[in-house]
Parts: sequence; structure tokens; C-alpha cells
Amino acid sequence: MTAIQTTSSHQSGHHFLPKETEDGHTISPNQWLLPLTAKVNAQDHLQIGGCDVVELVGQFGSPLYILDETTLRTTCRHYRHGFLQHYSGQSQVLYASKAWNMLAVCAIIASEDLGIDVVSGGELYTALEAGIKGSLIYFHGNNKSVDELELAISHDCTIVVDNWNELHNLVHLSHHTPSPISIMLRLTPGIECHTHEYIRTGHLDSKFGFDPDQLEAVFNGVVKETGLSCIGLHAHIGSQIFELQPHQDLGGVIVQWYSKALAMGLPVTELNIGGGLGIRYTHQDDPPSIENWVKGVAQAITEACHQYSVPLPKLLCEPGRSIIGTAGVTAYTIGSQKVIPQLRTYITVDGGMSDNPRPITYQSVYGALLANHMSAPMTQTVAVAGKHCESGDILIAQALLPVTQSGDILVIPATGAYNYSMSSNYNRVTRPAAVLVGNGDANLILQRETYQDLIRGDRLPERLRIT
Ligand code: LLP
Repeated sequence: MTAIQTTSSHQSGHHFLPKETEDGHTISPNQWLLPLTAKVNAQDHLQIGGCDVVELVGQFGSPLYILDETTLRTTCRHYRHGFLQHYSGQSQVLYASKAWNMLAVCAIIASEDLGIDVVSGGELYTALEAGIKGSLIYFHGNNKSVDELELAISHDCTIVVDNWNELHNLVHLSHHTPSPISIMLRLTPGIECHTHEYIRTGHLDSKFGFDPDQLEAVFNGVVKETGLSCIGLHAHIGSQIFELQPHQDLGGVIVQWYSKALAMGLPVTELNIGGGLGIRYTHQDDPPSIENWVKGVAQAITEACHQYSVPLPKLLCEPGRSIIGTAGVTAYTIGSQKVIPQLRTYITVDGGMSDNPRPITYQSVYGALLANHMSAPMTQTVAVAGKHCESGDILIAQALLPVTQSGDILVIPATGAYNYSMSSNYNRVTRPAAVLVGNGDANLILQRETYQDLIRGDRLPERLRIT
């Protein structure tokens, strides 16, 4: 058995340097993007969480989402321990469940003492069904319906208020609610960061949050409402961010708002600085470690609190991608191949943009490896295509791989975040199953969709029935 070297922080070190295994095989750079428990077994197969990936596909089918419990728990602990070590006030880490919201994931998150951020009635319902207490649920969204708000209020969740319309709805609802509704206020910090424009949220021209110009008006409005208990302020600057500085800048901005809120008589005690730490999708990516991120933001908040002479707040953050991204991989089976001489070779897998819409949406770049021939030399650069009727359905434009055959198992690492959660049934392709692996056990956490599932909601008016 050959252990694949990954560092304890999982996000630092020289993963991209070619490495020799104990038995002399060169490990492909892409293997450094794998979950912490990844190993190559005696059959030269990839093993995750003590389970042979080729056997998992045999047992649970293909494509298959595989979630490594150890990696998921480890990232949660890096966040929690980071705050305990680097922040002297109280803290609470929330998991941004939009990254992957599912009963089993919510249950693991809760067992690691993380709270959760939800952005829809559906995510909220799932978190509640998984047993997460309302006091640990923070409800986001820029257009929450009254029904969604009522569900959250009835479970004593905290509502992160995004805009005036929502504030008015909440004031109205508070007249029929026995105790004050716990709220936070989301403001747009006006911080630019380097990430894809679709996943930037902190710049002024963003659909999320109150404009900072309206700060005083919002604070004045809320302070008068006895039915609302405003416990804190929130801001989020974007996602897949590799620089620490914008998050540290946010620390200064949010503390400035906090001192203003206190001065205006709003008894705010919590500051939520959002999520956004990036992960390594390819060996060129080099994000800060979770610990360094926490240290950086904790220092920025602490310094700003000294500067403004305000007490240290309870500090919240809500990472999604950096909690679950590298814990997940997707296994596919290779089918057809098309060689266009002197131009390109396409190898096609049995999934694509329906289980991973990130390449077609954000031009995201991934790596791949062959789970059934881990030490085969990487001799060709190919395009890994999906099976959907769309030319843009290319999962990887340039994948370095060994020679492949139909039936080989191709694994794409770092697919734990925003893959299942953004999956679709485009072309009426059924969604994959998902398994949780750990200590040699594999538990089904998501059943594979069937054709019957696809037509479950369809209704055929009698007059259209073909007789
Ligand atoms: N908090 C708020 C208010 C957010 O909007 C988000 C992400 C997060 C926290 C978590 O951010 P993270 O730590 O995961 O970066 N679908 C895109 C990502 C969209 C992110 C949306 N908001 C993707 O696949 O890259």
C-alpha cells in the first residue's frame, strides 16, 4: 500500500512536485488534489477512506460521487481549532451548505459543532430534518418568501436580512411572533477581489445586501423594532479567493460598521465575515491554508476592535468550498473515444455537465486520473468530454492521462463543493449516487436517480394520452 503524501493542513506544501512512491512509481500531480485518505492499493487502484474506488463503482454504479469523511471532518476541525488558537473572543464556524446540502452532510457538520448557513426553504428543511438546532441555523437569501421566513422563525433560526423588502416582511411577521425574531443585517462591503465575476459578491454593484450608504437608515429602522432582535452584522466578499488581503480588509470595514451600530444603540454582538477561501483544483492553485486564513481574519478583526475601542465580537464565518471541496471526488466510466489526428483526442465519460456544471459555467479547470491504473505513465493529453448534447460539455479541456480504454474508471478530484448541489437532469440524465467512505466502510448517502424519478412530477393531461 502506498500512501499519497498530503500535508496536514491539506492546503499547503509542494504538492505539484513529482514524487516517487515507496515502490518507485511516479505519482501524477493530480493525485495531490485527492482527499487526505487517498492511497494506491496492491491492485494499483485508487483507494479512498479505505475503499477501493473501482470496487465502489462496481457496487454503487457509475458515475459516483465519493465523499471522504475524514477529509470533511478534518477541514471542519481546522476551522474550529484555528479560531480557538488565534481568536480570543467567542467564535462559531458555520458551514455554507449551498456547497453540498444533504442529510448526511448536515449530520456530520453538526457533529463537528459547526452551525449551518442555508439559503432556501429546501436547504433549511434538510438541515432541520438532519437534526440541526434552529439556534445554529442562519438563513440567507436576497428574496426569501414569507413562507420561508415563517418556517425559519418557527424554528428560532437567525435570519440574515438582505434588503428593505425583507425587513418590512419581518416587522410584519414579528407582530404575530411571541418572542423577538433573531436577525443579522447583511451589508455590501465594497471590496473587490480576484475571482470569477459570477461568484463575486462584495463589490458595490452586487444584488446582495444593503448598500453601505444606507447603513444609518437601516440601523435607525431596526433599533426601533422591539419585535426584532438584531444580534449582528454580516458581509461576504466572494468565493474561490486565494488572497488573504481582501478578507482582512473586510475585517476593518465590518468592525467600523459594528462600532457605528453600537454607537447608535443597536446591541450587536456577532460579526459574520462570510466564506470564500479557495481550494486547489489543479496543481497550479496555491490557496492559503485554513489555519492561515483564520489567523489572518482573526488578527484583522482584533486589531480593528482595538482601533475603534469596541469589545471583541463573537466572530462567525461561513465557508463552504474549503470545508467540503477536496473531500469529494467523482468517479466516471470511460466510454467512447474520438481521435482527430493532429488535433485532439476526446474521451467521453458517462456523466458531464449535469453532475458537474462548473466547467461550462465558470470555465473551471480540473485534473483527472485513472483509478484502475494509478501508476500507468501519463502519456497523452486528451479532452475529457461529457455525454450531453452540447459541444461545451467538456469536463477537462486538457487532461494529462495514461492511455485509456473503454471501461476504465476516471476520477476527477475536488468535486465536493458545488457539484451535486448544482447538478441537473439536463438531457434527462439521472443524477449519480453518492457514498460516504471512511475506515473501509462505504455508506450510501444519496440514491441514484431512476428513470421513474425523472417522470415523477410529470402529469399527462388525459386528452394528450396516446391510445
Ligand atoms: N456565504 C455567502 C453569503 C455566500 O454567498 C457564499 C457562497 C458562501 C458563504 C460560501 O462561499 P465559499 O466558502 O463556498 O466560497 N457555485 C459557485 C460558487 C458560488 C458561491 C455562492 N456563495 C462555484 O461553483 O464556484
